[in-house]
Amino acid sequence: MCGIIGYAGPRKTSNVLLEGLRRLEYRGYDSAGIAVGGGANPSGQLRIVKSVGKISALKAAIPPDVDGVWGIGHTRWATHGGVTQTNAHPHTDNSGKIAVVHNGIIENHVALKTMLQKKGCVFKTETDSEVIPHLIAQYYKGDLLEAVKAAVQNLEGTYGIACIHADEPGRIVGARNGSPLIVGVGAGEIFLASDITAMVAYTDKVVYLNDGELVDLTPDSYSILDRDEQKVERPMNQITWELGSIEKGDFPCYMEKEIFEQPESIARALSGRIDMENATAKLGGLNLDRSRLLNVGRVKIIAAGTSWHAGLVGSYLLEQVARIPAQAELASEIRYKNPVVEKDSLWFTVSQSGETADSLFAMREVQRKGATVLGICNVVGSTIARESDGGIYVHSGPEIAVASTKAFTSQLAAFYLFTLLSARMRHMSREEGQRFAASLQSVPDLVAQTLKTRDLVQRIAKKYCRAANFLFLGRGILYPIALEGALKLKEISYIHAEGCSAGEMKHGPIALISPEVPSVFLVSDDYLREKTISNIREIKARGGPVIAVGVYGDSETENLVDAFIPVPKMDPRFYPFAMIVPLQLFAYFCALELGRDVDQPRNLAKSVTVE
Ligand code: F6R
Repeated sequence: MCGIIGYAGPRKTSNVLLEGLRRLEYRGYDSAGIAVGGGANPSGQLRIVKSVGKISALKAAIPPDVDGVWGIGHTRWATHGGVTQTNAHPHTDNSGKIAVVHNGIIENHVALKTMLQKKGCVFKTETDSEVIPHLIAQYYKGDLLEAVKAAVQNLEGTYGIACIHADEPGRIVGARNGSPLIVGVGAGEIFLASDITAMVAYTDKVVYLNDGELVDLTPDSYSILDRDEQKVERPMNQITWELGSIEKGDFPCYMEKEIFEQPESIARALSGRIDMENATAKLGGLNLDRSRLLNVGRVKIIAAGTSWHAGLVGSYLLEQVARIPAQAELASEIRYKNPVVEKDSLWFTVSQSGETADSLFAMREVQRKGATVLGICNVVGSTIARESDGGIYVHSGPEIAVASTKAFTSQLAAFYLFTLLSARMRHMSREEGQRFAASLQSVPDLVAQTLKTRDLVQRIAKKYCRAANFLFLGRGILYPIALEGALKLKEISYIHAEGCSAGEMKHGPIALISPEVPSVFLVSDDYLREKTISNIREIKARGGPVIAVGVYGDSETENLVDAFIPVPKMDPRFYPFAMIVPLQLFAYFCALELGRDVDQPRNLAKSVTVE
């Protein structure tokens, strides 16, 4: 939620800020702003430009003479206060010399505002964030770092902050508590941002900040202070992302590009991790010795949204294949549930961004109770990845579209690998393990074949996208895929969709069926096939149109339904990989047909760093 960027250096600052904000836009896109100082601007003054809408609107609002040698920028996802130009960041103190951008929520802002108003501060916005520049001003005696240090002592809640003072050209002070902040180090230039994507065009050297830390930046230096105000020596990390990986290339939208990248992204998640000879998986980052792994009596999975759906698939797989009881929990629920951490339990936190507040806070809660938690993350160096006790990076590459697609299938790959490893340590024979491993290895190819349904799915989407409601139904390991299909459709097309276990349909959702409500069924060729087909007949008997994603050659299902999307035949345990693909495409083409903003759907943000 919200993206922040700071820059000091020789480049045209407003351009660097705009470019960074453009790349951070997926974190929030209701309004944006920048503050710059130095250069041709009058000395001792900051120029601030804000606008409602996307970064393109901000770009158009910036007069050509607004430049400078350092500055900060923000793209907002509103929490406190409506979407207005005034509420857009940066916010300033009453002198206009201190400017602040903030990502997070200041929970005690009402009390702070009352206290600051008594001291004469005049507030201009409805945001929680505005207390920060006023507080800093209270402590400012010529040294921005000292003032920020004192100010943050008063803040309760979460924050990633970047601040500048008009009288200290080239200096940016940052503070982090619960919202990500990363320093980018260039030659004679420095960056501070919520996400690497904002600076990957300029530098590949980054330094991650931890909660409770402050950072003092100039174009030539960075200095980090920990919670106890002690200086921290932290080496730089070299990042391996290439600029091309965060560009759209020939695709009209990031989402389509990311759907089509899945054969390669899944292959990357599997790369070097399947040991065919021994029919097992090699997962170097788990940090667990063999006896600890063997003694895992229960797996618990913490995640939100799409990552939770991947966790649900993981829980079915671990129980069925590795015979380990497993449960996927919603992060926002488990955090406040006073969860029981059993001695032999192993926990996972699944998160594409590695920054989701619900997942991070739930993970910290179970860690406090003694849980060993492994992260399944995409973003290297993200908070969840760093704070977990070990884990599996999924290596999807940057996922920019707000609706998650390729990260989901790579998260699945991580669970399949872990299941193979665990099952082989228990009852699974080498032959059985080899079959499982071979099926896993063939997933990228099978997904590539499934992508060939693109045009068919587009035609079906065109036909059905005007429906106001959809049901998505599946059984067993395909039930989470039904949930994920419904979520994809909701978030980018704004069509109401409900994911449902096909067996549960008769217990209520069937009341919704009418000729206006299409159902999308996932039909495997395993032991649940006949039962699913019976559920389709129940819908057809009530006049409901049915779209089925089924197995190539399943003419019985094809003849029964109104539209049929075939996926290649495979080991039924692996259908989640293939069957999600047409559902991603279906949501995508419905949204396109309805003229939605596919990559940046309304009200959403990619990285949900507030609770
Ligand atoms: C859906 C989507 C969200 C995220 C959720 C968790 O397309 O993107 O539901 O899956 O916000 O995000 P991460 O995986 O970053 O923790």
